[in-house]
Amino acid sequence: MTSSVTVRVPAKVNLQLSVGPLRDDGFHDLVNVFHAVSLFDEVTASEADTLTVRVVGDSAAQVPVDGDNLAIRAARALAARAGRPYGANLVIRKHIPVAGGMAGGSADAAAALVACDRLWGLGLSRDDLREIAADLGSDVPFALLGGTAVGTGRGETLSPLPVSGRFHWVFALADGGLSTPQVYGECDRLREAAGQRPGWPALSPALAQALRDGDAKALGGALVNDLQPAAIMLRRSLARTLEVGREHGALGALVSGSGPTCAFLAESEVHARELAISLAGAGVCRTVVGAYGPVPGAVLV
Ligand code: C5P
Repeated sequence: MTSSVTVRVPAKVNLQLSVGPLRDDGFHDLVNVFHAVSLFDEVTASEADTLTVRVVGDSAAQVPVDGDNLAIRAARALAARAGRPYGANLVIRKHIPVAGGMAGGSADAAAALVACDRLWGLGLSRDDLREIAADLGSDVPFALLGGTAVGTGRGETLSPLPVSGRFHWVFALADGGLSTPQVYGECDRLREAAGQRPGWPALSPALAQALRDGDAKALGGALVNDLQPAAIMLRRSLARTLEVGREHGALGALVSGSGPTCAFLAESEVHARELAISLAGAGVCRTVVGAYGPVPGAVLV
């Protein structure tokens, strides 16, 4: 057994989030193109008799440290799979915005799985970890995998997508989060009010081609998020944030996942820096961070 293990895990942005019909289990069938970006949380697991969690970093106070904490639930699920009452002290160093639509909680759960698997010397396969991950949440399997991948089902069934080169992003972080179930609910409500019946979603060929070609301009034009109108309805100020990014030459601008983080695709690293300064100066968000993608999923450091 090792006495302490640290795992680094990325945030995600959704390049295509196409929301299909509501299923009987309360989830929606999706076509969800995940893209892992260089904004990381770190989870350290240390030997202990019981399971505890502590969160450090800017938004630490907003993360639950009780049974609702997804990293604790991940460790508990792993111990249950191993059939032993293992313990660990988990410390989460938070950089991914909390409830921001960048799958920060899912990332911490994936990191806790990898860290505890090593700490407890279980040596589970990636397939076994992926199965436990899928039970924890729709976005957790992708945080294990990283890169760029299309998720189907409720988002948990993944196929990697080929990508050339690297894309440069700017993220506008908002004050406070949005509740994912509430945003999906608002999406259903808006569709019903408009008399829309969602069809079965499919991967956008233009998006897949742009990724294969490493063509940022084409990718910018192909970005799509069906949850965006719902997120804007619940947080009207996001419309202006997106507009400011577009005014400053973003190749694409969209709400990340269920929001309220807004993602902007830049032409280059230099353009990303300029865009970040413009967004920060316009006062349309709490803070601005730059990142690139794709990056690998949860890895031991
Ligand atoms: O899987 P996860 O716990 O992240 O999902 C959170 C909530 O988001 C679900 O309870 C559901 O309301 C909504 N959701 C959905 N369809 C999906 C994924 C999530 O409606 N495919």
